[in-house]
Amino acid sequence: MLIDTYGRVATDLRVSLTDRCNLRCTYCMPEEGLQWLTKSDLLSDDETVRLIRLAVTRLGITEIRFTGGEPLLRPGLVGIVERCAALEPRPRMSLTTNGIGLKRTAAALRAAGLDRVNVSLDTLRPDAFKTLTRRDRHADVLDGLRAAHEAGLTPVKVNTVLMPGLNGDEAPDLLAWAVEHGYELRFIEQMPLDAQHGWKRDGMITAGDILTSLRTRFTLTEEDGAARGSAPAERWLVDGGPHRVGVIASVTRPFCGACDRTRLTADGQVRNCLFAQEETDLRGALRSDAPDEEIARLWKLAMWGKKAGSGLDDPAFLQPDRPMSAIGG
Ligand code: GTP
Ligand code: 5AD
Ligand code: SF4
Repeated sequence: MLIDTYGRVATDLRVSLTDRCNLRCTYCMPEEGLQWLTKSDLLSDDETVRLIRLAVTRLGITEIRFTGGEPLLRPGLVGIVERCAALEPRPRMSLTTNGIGLKRTAAALRAAGLDRVNVSLDTLRPDAFKTLTRRDRHADVLDGLRAAHEAGLTPVKVNTVLMPGLNGDEAPDLLAWAVEHGYELRFIEQMPLDAQHGWKRDGMITAGDILTSLRTRFTLTEEDGAARGSAPAERWLVDGGPHRVGVIASVTRPFCGACDRTRLTADGQVRNCLFAQEETDLRGALRSDAPDEEIARLWKLAMWGKKAGSGLDDPAFLQPDRPMSAIGG
């Protein structure tokens, strides 16, 4: 079991499969990209599956989320999913993606055993998409969403970051669109995890702002607190239901007390928190032929040191060295 000194137990493993991405969202990466990990830095498919197997069979992990960068850029993704689906007990598996390429791979991912996807989409306007992501791929994301829905990778969730002057006025339109298509929309408060270190608290659209904007067009009823569990999203029924909308308020309403996550970066480092300053090197242990017991011991130790919270409200808060794209969202 992966337990920390506050009694939280990690059952949800987020696995980053690459630090690369085919978009350049302004709140995430600079135009020129970042210094990417090399092939030998990355865990191989076999190494990745070995760590996931160990987490599932020895450490109590029941949920696997594949992230990036953009995980659809990982050539071995379908094979990794297939091998994880064969584990006993079988973990639930989901993918967080920008949706580009999902049209081609959704059916294969479903067949391999993936349960569901979360797709990032910040705007319904192709021109704003191009400004925000610096790439003209809006139609590809919409195609990917449709393909995921048709393939049964449901519920399909849509992640949206709102930014003033770009898409800040789009919340009600996005919700109307999501309800129409049967996607579960969640708005995410922007966090200080960008490579450029450009985040400012007063430049951020808050959960409160988002709810005010949505209520100009919809009636929102708060979901029963018990239904939330350890999920980052607080959810509301839209116009009495059955559709829901979520808000992930990492900055203004942190949910660290219920956190059930552990993270593995694409280069085999365990992080006990998105905002952690330290990592634990499992790749080194793997490559020096450490037995499963030793790797499990290192992973437990890494989680034992998890801090109470993100530290965002601490005046001495320091952004982690790695940006979100290299940690795994
Ligand atoms: P499901 O609701 O189970 O689909 O998972 P999820 O919301 O964790 O998945 P997703 O990968 O779509 O994450 C959405 C956003 O939640 C991320 O982009 C982050 O902004 C935020 N998030 C995810 N995990 C954490 C976390 O551990 N801490 C904080 N502060 N935010 C997180
Ligand atoms: N703050 C909040 N969300 C972010 N994402 C990427 N960078 C940030 C950030 N700094 C979102 C993406 C995607 C999800 C994985 O994380 O838009 O939906
Ligand atoms: Fe968990 Fe850290 Fe995220 Fe808080 S900030 S929810 S403790 S990973």
